[in-house]
Amino acid sequence: MAVKKNLYTKRESGRAMDEVRPMTAKVGVVPSADGSAIFETGKTKAIAVVRGPRTLHPQHMQNPKNGVLRVNYGMMPFSVEDRIRPGPNRRSEEISKVTEWALSSVVDLSEFPNTVVDVFIQIPQADAGTRVAGINAAAMALAHAGIPMKEMVSAIGVGKIDKSLVVDLDKYEDSLFHDGEGSTDIPMVFTSRTKNLALLQLDGKISIPEFKETIELAKKACEKILVVQMEALKNVNGENGAPKGVPLEGNNG
Ligand code: CDP
Repeated sequence: MAVKKNLYTKRESGRAMDEVRPMTAKVGVVPSADGSAIFETGKTKAIAVVRGPRTLHPQHMQNPKNGVLRVNYGMMPFSVEDRIRPGPNRRSEEISKVTEWALSSVVDLSEFPNTVVDVFIQIPQADAGTRVAGINAAAMALAHAGIPMKEMVSAIGVGKIDKSLVVDLDKYEDSLFHDGEGSTDIPMVFTSRTKNLALLQLDGKISIPEFKETIELAKKACEKILVVQMEALKNVNGENGAPKGVPLEGNNG
């Protein structure tokens, strides 16, 4: 049987297959919050705001052994071409939950029993990769708030467009490309020091060897993202660069 040729040998954006979109990051963007950050990748923007730790009400939800991390993710109504109906929906609840799981693997609230730390993530503009941009912003906002963290996390969307493995899918690649083998989207989150996977989701089809390759691509991209996150935290947290929440030596190797 003849092998079908790859229909996605050049990216629509002109980027190399393993190239991330231009990134910017800044912390302290909401001065009234305990911690805040913005993370932008291409046209996708995510703002994260942290409040807490503060006593959790109602009391029956408190954990006497540990503080509770609570994440709320939402897209602004005009963040995409079709208006998004305000308020929670199935997608936003799923993303809030998986973000909570990813961040919980590094946040240590054992010193704050019976409290809650709230993380609000808002997407003012979306061009795919909003959950990973939200996680990047949230990790920075938590560190900025001085919440103890064992290490940082960095997140990226990788995947397969027809037969090509790509890094940092945009909306065209994520949702509009349907030819050949179509589009497979794999958001991944890596911890900064131990290089553990804190989150992996998979939407589509991919072979095991290709999947292993995407893990390596994601790891490399997360190294680049970590540099941007730490640089932004350094600019705010003083000359030694140590963000209040994260041990600096925990992020350099
Ligand atoms: O944003 P992310 O890639 O994490 O999640 P997704 O559910 O795979 O959505 C991919 C992209 O589709 C979003 O980033 C938006 O650009 C777009 N989208 C949309 O146009 N309308 C929606 N109701 C949801 C998503």
